[in-house]
Amino acid sequence: MEYTRLGTSGLKISRISLGCMSFGDPAKRMSWTLDDEGAEPIFRQAIELGVTFWDTANIYGLGTSEEIVGRALRKYTRRDDIVLATKVFQPMHQGPGGSGLSRKAIMEQVDASLRRLDTDYIDLYQIHRFDPETPVEETMEALHDVVKAGKARYIGASSMWAWQFAAMQHRAEIHGWTKFVSMQDQYSLIHREEEREMFGLLADQGVGSIPWSPLAAGRVARPWGERSSRRSETNPDVDFHGRPLFLDSDKAIVDAVQRIAEARGVPMAQVAMAWVLKNPVVSAPIVGATKPHHLADAVAALDVRLTDEEIRSLEEPYVPRMPTYF
Ligand SMILES: NC(=O)c1ccc[n+]([C@@H]2O[C@H](COP(=O)([O-])OP(=O)(O)OC[C@H]3O[C@@H](n4cnc5c(N)ncnc54)[C@H](OP(=O)(O)O)[C@@H]3O)[C@@H](O)[C@H]2O)c1
Repeated sequence: MEYTRLGTSGLKISRISLGCMSFGDPAKRMSWTLDDEGAEPIFRQAIELGVTFWDTANIYGLGTSEEIVGRALRKYTRRDDIVLATKVFQPMHQGPGGSGLSRKAIMEQVDASLRRLDTDYIDLYQIHRFDPETPVEETMEALHDVVKAGKARYIGASSMWAWQFAAMQHRAEIHGWTKFVSMQDQYSLIHREEEREMFGLLADQGVGSIPWSPLAAGRVARPWGERSSRRSETNPDVDFHGRPLFLDSDKAIVDAVQRIAEARGVPMAQVAMAWVLKNPVVSAPIVGATKPHHLADAVAALDVRLTDEEIRSLEEPYVPRMPTYF
């Protein structure tokens, strides 16, 4: 395993992060998620491979992902050996403390996450989206207070417009509050809109990118149109705004991944992950493993160096689109 700093912060993370949205009670939110027993081989594999940066959220499995992660922390490793990230924003219940980034919601939700994770601190506490219904100052001061109370070590953000992120960082800076060290954005061979504005901002500010869905939820890890798993059978084709997640033109990208993978004799996932990893602003992609070999492929991608010709054929078919999920 390689380790790196998260952006220019002092936090050392593994270059591959374990995405814990794959874990949770399948009856709660997504039918394809794994329970404790199903997740065990993946946690064991993560420890063996040195994948020590784990990402979850209060909303995953409506709290049950955090509970599974909390039990895994005690069973398979030592809490201090893991860099533990979770998130706040999405609706956990109705009422003023159940969602959003108000001071009330942040204070309630951080304590609820700590209880479920069965730990007294979170390494990276992330806002899951921008909240247009709360003043930026209120959110940034509340997050600063969470850090000063010792409940979180660092803060991060996820999926928003670059101007919103810049506004939040600026308010924190002028007030002397804790600033974000990471941005968790959707980034893969078929979702590249963050290259437009966000990545330049992150590079300028020394903020690390930790992309979610680096394999486009599996779409670039298998031939176009193949739906051979529970997740791929049930995954939506549009986001919650009704925006398409995939364009017909994406077939050419997936075909290129397949061609390169076959020529090199490696799984498609390694080629697609190697492409994400080569971007200098990327600190660590967050992999969604549902089988132990998924993590092994992600780690193996650290040794795959794509040629200029291969990169050209992967990138050329990309068609700009509306970003999805925010
Ligand atoms: N901040 C946010 O808003 C946000 C949103 C989404 C996710 N996330 C975070 O990002 C993490 C990863 O998201 P994701 O699961 O969508 O990521 P992903 O890595 O793009 O997709 C994971 C899926 O790809 C397939 N896959 C993975 N490795 C493979 C391999 N070696 N060979 C073949 N197929 C492979 C599997 O599909 P099958 O299961 O179908 O086989 C797996 O479920 C989540 O767990 C969560 O922590 C954050």
